[in-house]
Amino acid sequence: MRRALVAGNWKMNGSQASIKSLVSDLLPVLANGINGVDVVVCPPYPYLGQVAEAAFGSEIVLGAQDLSEEASGAFTGEVSGSMLSDFRVRFVLVGHSERRVRCGESDELVAKKFAAAQAAGLIPVLCVGESLDHRQSGHAEDVVATQMTAIIEQCGVKALEDAVIAYEPVWAIGTGQAASAEDAQLMHAFIRQVVAQFDAGVASGVQILYGGSVNADNAEALFACEDIDGGLVGGASLNAKDFIRICQ
Ligand code: G3P
Repeated sequence: MRRALVAGNWKMNGSQASIKSLVSDLLPVLANGINGVDVVVCPPYPYLGQVAEAAFGSEIVLGAQDLSEEASGAFTGEVSGSMLSDFRVRFVLVGHSERRVRCGESDELVAKKFAAAQAAGLIPVLCVGESLDHRQSGHAEDVVATQMTAIIEQCGVKALEDAVIAYEPVWAIGTGQAASAEDAQLMHAFIRQVVAQFDAGVASGVQILYGGSVNADNAEALFACEDIDGGLVGGASLNAKDFIRICQ
């Protein structure tokens, strides 16, 4: 039985004051866990220490939004997996569409980041998803299958046993237009089938989150789907009341 997981991706948002307030509003309800749902928050790098300290001893788990594929060295501005582990980070997003688009992250680089995360003892959250053009031209499954197989071929299907997948249709991110539960379920089932072609056991056990305009009103229907094991939440995760409702 796969555990439910809800992760909040705060993206490039927040300040010491606003994050202090957000975490203090989350802790009373989420500190001791909620209905068996694993809860993760992904602050921007500068606030990892603050959130790690505030959430210490609670069930709220720390995640990061990216990492370097390098372990250490002359890579100005980059952050390594071991540095994230140093701050009690457990999960790390890799291949988020905003980085694939803005930073030109290739499937090959995402695979290297995936491997670097696991080498540092972190759990990579592999983000995959198609653009509106791909969906409208009928190539959504081709794109997602390519993104998935790039990781499997470079890291091995067994690597997914210590990872999470997040399906985030690019056209649903930040738009307020989430995929319908039916469409999301179809793609999640397809992703699970892609993995099953390599290893049926890994496919049945891997958590697959949905991301893209998840909110307090649509989360229940989305998370009720057979192959949707939780959510990767952006905007709504910055509002404690909404994020708590999504986790419940
Ligand atoms: O990583 C989650 C994010 O991309 C989804 O953003 O604002 O559509 O929930 P949002």
